[in-house]
Amino acid sequence: MAPLSSLVLLTLARTCLSQTLTPLPSIHEGCIHMPIIHSTNPQHFGKRAASVALANRSDIAYYAQLTIGNPGQSVFVQLDTGSFELWVNPDCSDLDGSNARFCQSAGFYDTTKSSTAVSLGTGKTLRYGIGSANITYFRDDIALPGSTTGLKSVQFGVATSTVDEFSGILGIGYGQGIATRYKNFIDELSAQNAVKVKAFTIALGGKDVQEGVIVFGGVDTSRFSGTLTRLPIIPAANSPDNVPRYWIDMQSVRLTAPSGRTRTYANSTLPVFLDSGATMTLLPADLAAAIAADFGATATDSGGFYPVDCDLTKTNGSLDFVFNGVTIQVPYNELIRTIDSTPPSCFLGISQSNDFTLLGDTFMRSVYATFDLDNNVIWMAQAANCGSTPAALANSNVLSTLTGACSTRSAVATSNTGSGVGSNGAAASSAAGSGDPTRPKSTNEPGSVGNGGSVDSSAASAPSSGQFAWGTVAGVLGILTFLEGI
Ligand SMILES: *[C@@H]1O[C@H](CO)[C@@H](O)[C@H](O)[C@H]1NC(C)=O
Ligand SMILES: *[C@@H]1O[C@H](CO)[C@@H](O)[C@H](O)[C@H]1NC(C)=O
Ligand SMILES: *[C@@H]1O[C@H](CO)[C@@H](O)[C@H](O)[C@H]1NC(C)=O
Ligand SMILES: *[C@@H]1O[C@H](CO)[C@@H](O)[C@H](O)[C@H]1NC(C)=O
Repeated sequence: MAPLSSLVLLTLARTCLSQTLTPLPSIHEGCIHMPIIHSTNPQHFGKRAASVALANRSDIAYYAQLTIGNPGQSVFVQLDTGSFELWVNPDCSDLDGSNARFCQSAGFYDTTKSSTAVSLGTGKTLRYGIGSANITYFRDDIALPGSTTGLKSVQFGVATSTVDEFSGILGIGYGQGIATRYKNFIDELSAQNAVKVKAFTIALGGKDVQEGVIVFGGVDTSRFSGTLTRLPIIPAANSPDNVPRYWIDMQSVRLTAPSGRTRTYANSTLPVFLDSGATMTLLPADLAAAIAADFGATATDSGGFYPVDCDLTKTNGSLDFVFNGVTIQVPYNELIRTIDSTPPSCFLGISQSNDFTLLGDTFMRSVYATFDLDNNVIWMAQAANCGSTPAALANSNVLSTLTGACSTRSAVATSNTGSGVGSNGAAASSAAGSGDPTRPKSTNEPGSVGNGGSVDSSAASAPSSGQFAWGTVAGVLGILTFLEGI
């Protein structure tokens, strides 16, 4: 079965557009493949980005590039599985210094310069834990990377004012009839036949990679090994907050210490949701504290972070997230965030929250995940990285038969060589960390309640599509010019 499906995929692969390949004349071929740009990517930051004091202001969000209007205007938007709507044009004048430069470099969409822009005359306020945006809805065409045609007349928000927002956001949560009253970006990809299945794959890549991939309508078998495990998305009505998010059941959290010893934490059987727009992983206070204690942190700092010894990033340990059928191992080096101050300081990529239990980027970098919205399931495997072979899915049945192209011998990433402490015999793989410092960023997870979170008043037809940014460190980052080199 596996070889057959691989063959099918190889055949299909040719039809998936990729920004890294020669553009094909049409996007109606089944999938769209885009790089996800990590804001600390040195190729994009180049020397100009060097040594800006990041301290509390930094950003390791993940961005995708869209081209809006006619003629096309390029903007970068933060990719967010935790929210539902697309909007652009943060107010950069609200920001200072490097934040303002970062904001400006993300690009601006001028509705008056697009012949196809249509104002819908309606709007709303999107509120985040830190920051918010007043938007007016527009419709316009959105071209996709690597294609000469694109989506027509897509509804999205154009901000009229924002507070503490550094870029627009591409929410890729559920859309029409579930979380929004109109077709969101994901809905339009299907409705306009840009994809054959309403599914997308995210592989953020490890800290050292700094560029991940998203494949709308497809998969990338060069980003995992072994097979994919099917995890049902918990229906909103049965989820902790009754909001239609990418909630799944987690069986436990387990530590695999550098010594190889393991420990499973009490009270770690929980529903969690996957949130690419969140920097941190948020767990209930008791659980977070128990994990932190094993990393030598007995208390949080004033920002709510657990400081840990940076040397831990050089050891072969992992924090393992156990689901029904698959365990995702997050190497210490991926779990621990480093601020490249002098000397560097480090903290755990997990914080306490009794309001939200979510797996943010500190988890997401170690997982390969295909979100199948036709069937309301997420297919997961330990992330690996052995190239790039984006392929369209002709139908979602193929997912159960896919085999990753990467070697199962890939090691658990640490900043050294990996240890391969594979607990379940599965590929304990992940991009090997280079020890590159990563920087905290503001987060942008949704939430309908909670610390400053807010209900997105919107007009969602279903539960309010709350958006809530849990921004700790204050915000996004001090980065600077990362987009200029792109
Ligand atoms: C970071 O934020 C904390 C809490 O707001 C503050 O005490 C600290 O001075 C800040 N650090 C820097 C380097 O700005
Ligand atoms: C949104 O608009 C309202 C009313 O004009 C204003 O009070 C509020 O500050 C605005 N919010 C943002 C985020 O710009
Ligand atoms: C687990 O949860 C129960 C019930 O809330 C609590 O009594 C117990 O102390 C928790 N255990 C740990 C180790 O936190
Ligand atoms: C990590 O594991 C690898 C492979 O087993 C080993 O070569 C390396 O020395 C280990 N590193 C540490 C710090 O233990």
